[in-house]
Amino acid sequence: MTLNRRQFMQTTAAAVVLPKLGWASYPALVAQEAMQQIAPEGFSETRVWTYGGQVPGPEIRVPQGARVQRRLSNTLPQPTTVHWHGIRIDNAMDGVPGLTQDVVQPGSSFDYDFEVPDAGTYWYHAHNRSMEQIARGLYGPLIVEEAVAPDVDRDLTLMLDDWRLDSETAQIMDDFGNGHDLSHAGRLGNLVSVNGRFDPAYSVGGGERLRLRLINASNARIFDLGLDGLTGWIVALDGMPLEVPLEVSDRFPLAPAQRVDLIVDVRAAPSGIANLVSFERDGSYGLVRFDVSGKSKTARTGITPLVPNQMPEVLLEDVPLKQMAMQGGAMRWLESAKIGENVLSGQELAQLGRFWALNGNAERPAEPFLDVQKGTTYRIEFVNETAFPHAMHLHGHHFRLILEDGTLGPWRDTVLVERGQTRQIALVADNPGDWLLHCHMLGHAASGMMSWFRVT
Ligand code: C2O
Ligand code: CU
Ligand code: CU
Repeated sequence: MTLNRRQFMQTTAAAVVLPKLGWASYPALVAQEAMQQIAPEGFSETRVWTYGGQVPGPEIRVPQGARVQRRLSNTLPQPTTVHWHGIRIDNAMDGVPGLTQDVVQPGSSFDYDFEVPDAGTYWYHAHNRSMEQIARGLYGPLIVEEAVAPDVDRDLTLMLDDWRLDSETAQIMDDFGNGHDLSHAGRLGNLVSVNGRFDPAYSVGGGERLRLRLINASNARIFDLGLDGLTGWIVALDGMPLEVPLEVSDRFPLAPAQRVDLIVDVRAAPSGIANLVSFERDGSYGLVRFDVSGKSKTARTGITPLVPNQMPEVLLEDVPLKQMAMQGGAMRWLESAKIGENVLSGQELAQLGRFWALNGNAERPAEPFLDVQKGTTYRIEFVNETAFPHAMHLHGHHFRLILEDGTLGPWRDTVLVERGQTRQIALVADNPGDWLLHCHMLGHAASGMMSWFRVT
């Protein structure tokens, strides 16, 4: 068989082996301080910790299957690491100090180099003293593009955060060890930003179809969101496409670390306004404003699901179940829990700033919660014995929710378990390594809700 010219070019191009250049270094991701206008105009700029001088850090956008290579250079006054949240990543690149790598000291650097197997909306963030470092701004979006993108007019990443700023100086309150926050809902803020700005607005065309990639980077705030002047569907959760897009007819929650991809049509008339709405106890307000301009074009109709990622098959027959009890916190104070081999009383734990436990451990235990062979499927049952909701996150894997009727729900990497609730997930442990499992309310993680599992 003879090849035509184009096929020939492709064949030879693929065969060329590029020499590895010893001096070439990865694109920089510099962890650095910066000043940024987070509070409304009229307030001073806020001193933030950033990747590359801005919050959120630069959007890393790559095609599915590509390699991401970044050299983290730490110019901050604290050691740090980067975790690539939601990526089914090579364990050595997961960014967990004391588990997958050493911290990167001030003045030092670390090269991250990994493949991104799944298309979708992910993010990266600091994973040392996360409660403080993420609150100071160390996060950014990581977008993996599908080979076949959905038909939209624009693709907009919206990264939500919840800041606690001094109301006079607009500087970050540094009360990170505050026992009240740790033992209650976590560090809730007093100013919500989207893409690092207060009250942002985007201009859109009438009738346009938008893809909105929402990412919740807050320490502890669970958003309750809705649409106004927009109609559409949830097409993906935590990066993973839904088999059947879910029409947005009501509010939907977005817990810390979770992502929602929406495809929405602008229904507000030209020179009108549409909003992404946040519902709170004292009412609702527009979190992101869309100023509609131009002549309205006819909106598209219907929706096609996103192309699914290649995920393992989940079979639920004869699958072992492992319980994880979530314990402690205000109103359900720990009577005792373990730190290492020592059993401490609730009072001793509180003095150490530990208010929560997972299966009786108020610190990441020496032994893993699960130790399984690669490829094993497990049910994990989260039993929330506390008086607060928790956003439970597993590293290195997505899992499937098991719905109340016992059937398989969507893929996720972070599941919100409401107070008093029990939720099951199915995990195909197919990515070898040591992986964290923790609450993504970062104050809870720092004060006891931290565990891990091992895949060999
Ligand atoms: Cu997004 Cu261990 O975290
Ligand atoms: Cu993660
Ligand atoms: Cu929690």
